[in-house]
Amino acid sequence: MTVRTIQWRDGEVILIDQRRLPRKEVYRVCRNFRQVAQAIRTMVVRGAPAIGVAAAMGVALGARRIRHPRRVETAMERVFRTLADTRPTAVNLHWALARMRRIYEEYKDGDLEMLKRRLEEEALEICEEDVAANRTLGSLGAGLLKDSRRILTHCNAGALATAGYGTALGVLRAMKESGAAIEEVFVDETRPFLQGARLTAWELAKEEIPVTLITDNMMGYVMNSGRVDAVVVGADRVAANGDVANKIGTYTVAVLAHRHEVPFYVACPTSTVDLDCPSGADIPIEQRSQDEVTHIAGTRIAPDGVNTLNPAFDVTDHSLVSAIITEKAVVTPPYEQNLRAVCRG
Ligand code: MRU
Repeated sequence: MTVRTIQWRDGEVILIDQRRLPRKEVYRVCRNFRQVAQAIRTMVVRGAPAIGVAAAMGVALGARRIRHPRRVETAMERVFRTLADTRPTAVNLHWALARMRRIYEEYKDGDLEMLKRRLEEEALEICEEDVAANRTLGSLGAGLLKDSRRILTHCNAGALATAGYGTALGVLRAMKESGAAIEEVFVDETRPFLQGARLTAWELAKEEIPVTLITDNMMGYVMNSGRVDAVVVGADRVAANGDVANKIGTYTVAVLAHRHEVPFYVACPTSTVDLDCPSGADIPIEQRSQDEVTHIAGTRIAPDGVNTLNPAFDVTDHSLVSAIITEKAVVTPPYEQNLRAVCRG
């Protein structure tokens, strides 16, 4: 995959603008933390691990602009607050900010240049670790799905949603690399933001993995026709009991998979597991603008004044999840116990 989702280039964060894909490959350059926050808020960069990495780099950018040691505390608190307030559901954002804060706390009272350097190093480490975790979980997932030929995925959990390689799509990439004969990957279009149609179909086509794009309301048809061997999706936050918050529509896929006895796998790094969050009911669900529902690609499709609902994520109960594929292990039920053992171990 030659497209780079996020790059750090000497004090600049360069992001591929995911709102423009697949029609245009446009890169946005962020030179300060406010531009990074805006890019996260407006979905230039999206996907749980990717927004975590972008936020970490945003903190490093924020520190770079500070000129006087006495300004450090006020300036950095503003940086952390602004980035934390961008999107609520994906825990990777808050996990990455917590890691950056630990470095900040350790170095804030010392040399300012050292603080800046350490924050930059930590952000780059978070970025590299994400790619490494995805490669490892990808190969664990490839082992698990080795006999599945026809797979369905929802939203985009690919290289674009991470620092590289992808989680659910990382599993598919690893399957391909290991020589597995993938016959067909069904990709749900993922209304309203169309991450499936625009981003996943694009990534898989580039990888020469056979893609069949379907609209969201065709999931039941393809499962009922016996055309799906396994489902693999990403996650924005996994609660301590194994409940999974992921893109709106994931719960529908999971219920259908259960009804048709199709295994439903979640692929995510352990940075997506929030052991402090007891269950899915405790996960904040982002509500987005009504324009995303009333419009498609900038064209209004609904009558003026219609009432809308636009939750960006839903929660899938852990009872519907066959396994959670992380870089440390493939976690199976009972999740309460096994997630804690794997993530703390
Ligand atoms: O609103 P988005 O596009 O940021 O939502 C992304 C998802 O829901 C992905 O499936 C999830 O973050 C997994 S990414 C590896």
